[in-house]
Amino acid sequence: MIGVFDSGIGGVSVLREIVKLIPKGHFIYYSDSVNNPYGDKTYEEVYSIVKGIVNYFLERECVAIVIACNTASAICVKRLRSEYPNTLFIAIEPTYKMVHDYNPLGKTLVMATKGTLKSEKFLALYHKYDNGKTILLPCSGLADLIEDGNDVKIRRYLEDNIKQYRGINNVVLGCTHYPLIKDNIKEVLGNVKFFDGSIGVSKELVRQLKLRNIAYQFEELKIIFYDSSDDIKKKERFNQLMRN
Ligand code: DGL
Repeated sequence: MIGVFDSGIGGVSVLREIVKLIPKGHFIYYSDSVNNPYGDKTYEEVYSIVKGIVNYFLERECVAIVIACNTASAICVKRLRSEYPNTLFIAIEPTYKMVHDYNPLGKTLVMATKGTLKSEKFLALYHKYDNGKTILLPCSGLADLIEDGNDVKIRRYLEDNIKQYRGINNVVLGCTHYPLIKDNIKEVLGNVKFFDGSIGVSKELVRQLKLRNIAYQFEELKIIFYDSSDDIKKKERFNQLMRN
């Protein structure tokens, strides 16, 4: 089993890409909607929540853990790797370097949680590749709206918070919930180029599994879904998003 988690169903944007590369994999998806949002919590709070999820996966003998959450990756992965040296952690991060490689002179909007944007990990990346034309936008509350799937509120949020950046070329989706509303963002910003880390993470997962000779393809695809709030609607939404 490969464990994949996020602070809710947002990480489905990552799992969908993983399944394209591992179509007969066995996965447990842990949707921690009880603790959503991670982005506004302290580092200690997020780390202690994440440790609980890691232990849940280890009790189920997961061979790898994918942190399908930019916030949890930014805050926790270094500490997790030192505390659990025998566990394979694959972490996502905002693809800011990719923007630089693709369009070094372009104007970029980085949308992410407050936790990600102020993390040491992200700031190191930002300072390395910043071209002076980047806006860092903490999108407090947006992941919650996506979690609830309320289209009217999502549209209103985007009108109020990102419309002023119309004319921008690149948009970094630095939270795994945001790829789920690409169409809404395009409605507000026009034809922008999106960047998100899900493909990179999926390739890295496969690379690491091969490197360690871990079996990861079986007879058929199996996905176990668990939501920490036990809300039945989460499972329905997850299944619907996996089919999209
Ligand atoms: N999906 C999470 C991420 O990628 C953020 C949502 C939250 O704030 O919990 O950062």
